[in-house]
Amino acid sequence: MAFHQLGDCVKGRQGPLTLICREELFDLGFLGEHCAEKWFGGGRKRVLKMSTESVLKVDLHRVLSRAQLSGLPQSAVRLVELSQDPSNGPAEFAAPIEADPGLAGQVLRFVNSSYFGFTREISSVKLAISLVGVRTIKNFALWSAVFSLVPNPRCGPFDLKSLWQDSLRRGLFARAAAKCLGVKEAEEAFSAGLLQDMAVPVLAKELPDVYVRLLAAREQGQMRLSDVEQQTLGWTHAQAGGILARQWNLPDDFAVLIENHLANDANSPRMRRDPRLAAVAMSALLPSVVDPVWHEAPQLEAFYDQIRPARTPSLAKLLGQVDQEFAGFAPIMKVALPSKSLVDWHGEVAAAAS
Ligand SMILES: [Fe+2]
Repeated sequence: MAFHQLGDCVKGRQGPLTLICREELFDLGFLGEHCAEKWFGGGRKRVLKMSTESVLKVDLHRVLSRAQLSGLPQSAVRLVELSQDPSNGPAEFAAPIEADPGLAGQVLRFVNSSYFGFTREISSVKLAISLVGVRTIKNFALWSAVFSLVPNPRCGPFDLKSLWQDSLRRGLFARAAAKCLGVKEAEEAFSAGLLQDMAVPVLAKELPDVYVRLLAAREQGQMRLSDVEQQTLGWTHAQAGGILARQWNLPDDFAVLIENHLANDANSPRMRRDPRLAAVAMSALLPSVVDPVWHEAPQLEAFYDQIRPARTPSLAKLLGQVDQEFAGFAPIMKVALPSKSLVDWHGEVAAAAS
C-alpha cells in the first residue's frame, strides 16, 4: 500500500486524499481505519498516514450533526403520521395545521392561489382541506417544511432548483408505480420519492470540495452519484437521508423507504413484501433534468418488467401519466416544467436502441 503524509495533502491536488483539507478531516472526525497512526492523537501531532487506495472515511453522523439543521416542524411530522391511516379526514388534519399559525397561513394562501380558482375566499383550514383534499395539503405542508430547511449550497454543478424538479418527478412516479404494484395507500411512496435526495444539498454544503468532485465524476463516468459516494466516502446520500428522516421524527417506515431508494434487486423478498420499496427505488432510476443522457433507462425498464403484475400499464404509459401529473402539480409547488418530458426521454432511448 502506498502511504502518504496527510500533512502534505491540500485542496486541489490529485487523488482521494486531496478531496478535503486536513482541517476539515479533523473537524469531521475522520475515522482513520487505514491510518498508520492517529492524527491529532496524544500531543496533537500531525502524524497521520493513510493509503491513497483506501476509501476516505468521513463520519457521516458528524457531518450531519455539523450541519445543524433545524428540526422538522411538529405539525409536518404529525400530518405525515396522520396520512398513514386512511380513516383520518379533514377534521384530524386541520388540528395540527391550526395549531401552527405559520403553516395555517401558508395553507390558506396556497388554497386561495389562482391555481385553484375558487371564486370566494377560503378562510377556514378545515374547509380548505375538504376542498382540495387531505393528500394535497399534507404533501404541500411536508414539501414546504423540508424546502425551508434544506440549504442551497454553492457546489460546482449542483443546482437546487433542478433537484426539486427531479424530486417532484420521482415522488409522482413512486406514487403511480406503487399503485400499479397494488399499494392501496401510496402516499408514503410519494413522500419518500419526493424526499429521497434531501440529504444531497446538506452534504454538498458540508463537504463542498468532496461533492464538486463526486458530481463531476458522476457526469464523466456515467455512474450513479451513490456509486461514487460509496467508492469515495464509504456511504451514500440514501443513508444520510434515512438518518435525517429519523432526526426529524418522521415515521420509521418512511426513513426505511428513503434509505433503500438505491436498492436495485427487483426480486429480493423485501421488495416483494413491500412494493413501496420497489416503487421508490424505481423512481430513483428516472433521469435528472440536468442529465444529457438517461443511462439508467434500461435498468428501470428491466426492473419494472420484472416486478409489475399482469395488465398494468407499460412503462411508457406510466411515464406519460407522471408528465401529466407534473404539469398539474408544478405551479402549486412553484417548480418549473422540465425542458424534456419523461415520454420524450423514453422515446429517445427507444429510438437509439432500435
Ligand atoms: Fe438518490
